[in-house]
Amino acid sequence: MKFVLKNGEEVEIKELDKKATAKQFRDFIEKIIKEKPQPFIVVDKVPSLKEEEAWLKGNREKIRKREMVKLVAWKENEIIGVCDATRQRGVERVNAMVGISIARGYRGKGLGKKLLVELIKLAKRKLHPRIIYLTVFEGNKPARALYEKVGFQNVATLPNWSKARGKYWGHVYMRLK
Ligand SMILES: CC(C)(COP(=O)(O)OP(=O)(O)OC[C@H]1O[C@@H](n2cnc3c(N)ncnc32)[C@H](O)[C@@H]1OP(=O)(O)O)[C@@H](O)C(=O)NCCC(=O)NCCS
Repeated sequence: MKFVLKNGEEVEIKELDKKATAKQFRDFIEKIIKEKPQPFIVVDKVPSLKEEEAWLKGNREKIRKREMVKLVAWKENEIIGVCDATRQRGVERVNAMVGISIARGYRGKGLGKKLLVELIKLAKRKLHPRIIYLTVFEGNKPARALYEKVGFQNVATLPNWSKARGKYWGHVYMRLK
């Protein structure tokens, strides 16, 4: 689907398809990992192309088995946003965990909200999860504001859970109301 950003630019949002390559995903995540200040994301090491290929293959397998849904936002051949929901394992398989990242130049333009809203609809339709949840660094104000706006609420905070920007931050668990 086409989506018009707040600045009038048109982008494309699609479910992960066969054309997307590991190189395109690696380029996307590399830029985010290398941001200064350090971003509030869990991955902090740029994957090798081989690692990214294995990761992408694993994603495709999970999507085929209806364990994952994934939306990718494109500007021509460049990935500018990714949002997914993954069914958890074993006794937690009734729940799906959400993740989202937008490329720096495309933030604050409505893309994160659009991707998340569409992803939730897709996840409900294809995964039928009991709980849709996510975790976010306590200090990640833009992300927390987005999640609240879309209908997530705090359920727990794990204090001083991981280190980013040279500091320990709590991890906040949020679930969709
Ligand atoms: C968090 C993130 C996904 C938000 O996506 P985005 O496209 O910038 O968000 P949107 O433009 O759709 O904004 C949606 C809402 O989020 C909030 N928001 C977005 N940027 C914000 C900011 N800088 N400060 C405060 N609130 C902000 C606002 O409430 C906004 O609603 P509004 O447009 O009605 O005011 C994006 O900033 C990102 O990818 N950051 C880096 C990676 C990351 O932190 N991922 C999340 C890991 S848990």
